Amino acid sequence: MSRVAKGWTQRCVGCGAIYEDDVRSYACSRCSNLLELVKDAPVSRTGLYGETRQPGIWGYRKALPLEPDVKEVSLSEGHTPLVLVSRIGAKLGLKNLYVKNEGQNPSGSFKDRGMTVAVTRAVQGGSKLLICASTGNTAASMAAYAARAGVTAMVTVPAGKVASGKLAQVYAYGAKIIRVEGDFDAALAITLKVAAEIRELSVMNSVNPYRIEGQKTNAYEIYEQLGYKVPDYVVLPVGNAGNISAIWKGFKELKEWGISSSLPRMVGVQAAGAQPLVEAFAHGRDSVTAVQPKTIASAINIGNPASWKKALAALRESKGMALAVADEETVAARMDLASTEGIFVEPASAVPLAALRKLMDRIEKDATVVCICTGNGLKDQESVKVQLDSTPLVANPDQMVSLLAKTA
Ligand code: F0G
Repeated sequence: MSRVAKGWTQRCVGCGAIYEDDVRSYACSRCSNLLELVKDAPVSRTGLYGETRQPGIWGYRKALPLEPDVKEVSLSEGHTPLVLVSRIGAKLGLKNLYVKNEGQNPSGSFKDRGMTVAVTRAVQGGSKLLICASTGNTAASMAAYAARAGVTAMVTVPAGKVASGKLAQVYAYGAKIIRVEGDFDAALAITLKVAAEIRELSVMNSVNPYRIEGQKTNAYEIYEQLGYKVPDYVVLPVGNAGNISAIWKGFKELKEWGISSSLPRMVGVQAAGAQPLVEAFAHGRDSVTAVQPKTIASAINIGNPASWKKALAALRESKGMALAVADEETVAARMDLASTEGIFVEPASAVPLAALRKLMDRIEKDATVVCICTGNGLKDQESVKVQLDSTPLVANPDQMVSLLAKTA
């Protein structure tokens, strides 16, 4: 077990117990809550945003819990585009609407931010066998970084519930695939149980606090890309609830370290068929009741989010909002983003835009709003019904000319 890096403290988010070494189970042995890594001393503005730093998440190395001499397992992740989507914004009556296009990461999703850190840490500690449960993107990301590091990857996936593009990635990157009967929640439960018994397995799900540390860099990037300004709202999809916890942590650090002077309101969006966190938030509960999930947005088809406690804290501390959208609204928002702005995202990544349509009376027109579009549209093609049969078919130039004459 590796010791936590110098200058960092690992503590339980429930009871505050301190752990000096990495914890195999990723949970507090006293109260079962998840752990977080906390930097003991602030990082300065020049430490975080110094001029000579490399692009992407490793440029924020001073804010990552690894000793300076550890060699990173990287594919050049992060530095994704923050795109002002004025035409969609105009439809919604928002002057400053941005999409953070996380589908531009090496394996096509935001997971790469956390995976590069977690895999670096695992390899540093001597791990040769990485495992995760996944709705697809975590698996693809972990498999890519395992290949890059030259170690073995094993993924558990809910049988029949993962988009084929993601499975193709996992397969091509050379990971071993185990299908689990049931949903993601069952796959994660089995994976954590088995990993607790078999010491060789290192779990790369977002219960692993090193994942969260990598993902928090999205906040640092957004702040920089907005010209050192904190957005008013960050709107993002919520599944297992790691990412909302991570991005909130990043913005809080910026403020606590004296770099920024405000915080965004976090808006967590779930699919109507898988909204345990929305329910808990709406009813002011301090726990989440698991549900049987069912949504076309397979990435967030999750009924029992592991990071629920951190996510509820993010929503409450930020005076945020949580809401659910119907699958039809998600599909419409996905097509709208692609055809209006040229950004093709997977269904889960469209839920923030679907949600904004319902929030127009609650968000100020001149607010700066950032939607985190978490995954690339090419990963999930089966949910786009291409009507090829109704398109013309030609065999020679003459046919094409007469066709164009008819349509002109
Ligand atoms: N968007 C996409 C595209 C995802 O793949 C996920 C999660 C989320 C949003 C939600 O993020 O879990 O941190 O709240 N996908 C995981 C996976 C569960 O296995 O790929 P979260």
